[in-house]
Amino acid sequence: MKLEITYDHNDNKMVNEENPMRFITAAVATLALTVGAQVATAAPIEIKFSHVVAENTPKGQMANKFRDLVAERLAGKVVVNVFPSSQLFGDNKVLEAMLLGDVQMAAPSLSKFQKYTKSLQIFDLPFLFKDMDAVERFQQGPAGQKLLGSLANKGLVGLGYLHNGMKQLSASNELRVPADAAGRKFRIMTSDVLQAQFEAIDAVPLKKPFSEVFTLLQTRAIDGQENTWSNIYSKKFFEVQPFITESNHGVLDYLVVTSAEFWMELDDGLKADIKKALDEAIAFGNGVAADKGVSDKQAIIDSRRSQVVSITDAERSQWVDAMKPVWKQFEGQIGADLIEAAVAANK
Ligand code: SIN
Repeated sequence: MKLEITYDHNDNKMVNEENPMRFITAAVATLALTVGAQVATAAPIEIKFSHVVAENTPKGQMANKFRDLVAERLAGKVVVNVFPSSQLFGDNKVLEAMLLGDVQMAAPSLSKFQKYTKSLQIFDLPFLFKDMDAVERFQQGPAGQKLLGSLANKGLVGLGYLHNGMKQLSASNELRVPADAAGRKFRIMTSDVLQAQFEAIDAVPLKKPFSEVFTLLQTRAIDGQENTWSNIYSKKFFEVQPFITESNHGVLDYLVVTSAEFWMELDDGLKADIKKALDEAIAFGNGVAADKGVSDKQAIIDSRRSQVVSITDAERSQWVDAMKPVWKQFEGQIGADLIEAAVAANK
């Protein structure tokens, strides 16, 4: 059936000469179809997830798992695009980019937030946590959960912690006691606590981005660095560092963050679905972290490229004695109560 439409200049509106009601019905149907088509074709919300490590690491695996869970459950509504290995932003720029809306999620190491909050510096204190179980107890306890909100006044939302593991010291010489590190250059993350930790043993700390570490080590521009087994393995630091001291002197974990602006604009249902997928991805990533703490260490040993140095209790005590005064140095910024809560998590 043909719909005849003319313009009635007297009345200033379009009419169907045959049947005006049919025109209105057809117009409403057309409008509904157009709106429906727009809804159906509306682009999904994009979450750009930027990180600096390789994909075969706890963080890389967690981010990919999150992407896959969102694709499975929220297809058409939300899409996660993961940018590993500093492809999009290095850790020193990613939070600024997030506040500008150029990236929606990241999981920088807890050592990289000092510009935004001093409280998270707690995680850098040397020899604070005896193992990863203690770290987990602290993070999931009341003090750790409160810390997730420590970035709120900076426009950032802490969505959850992710483990990597305990840090080891790699170097071009064998480090058994602090005196072996004296005068040597170590790359550190952008953390004043880590700077103080290396200064406490008369070493020379240099704040450098993760993406530059391999080249700095390879060219001998620096002597050593501190990192987890999975980062030392996945970034091949072990190939250019003949010694790795199993010091377990600190923790390298992450905070998954988003911007308050992005998060608040999501409707509650979607927010809950995204958070659920993220929590599951984090649990998966924590499993990967536990496994890699063992398997990547073994892979390094098997490679015979680097010697893993086990120190005695007496040698370890020397590191503890030299580095632990850093706690007092930062107690004012971090808070004595928070340090006490972290120590309590060791029991
Ligand atoms: C990371 O694990 O995200 C990087 C750690 C580092 O900068 O050493």
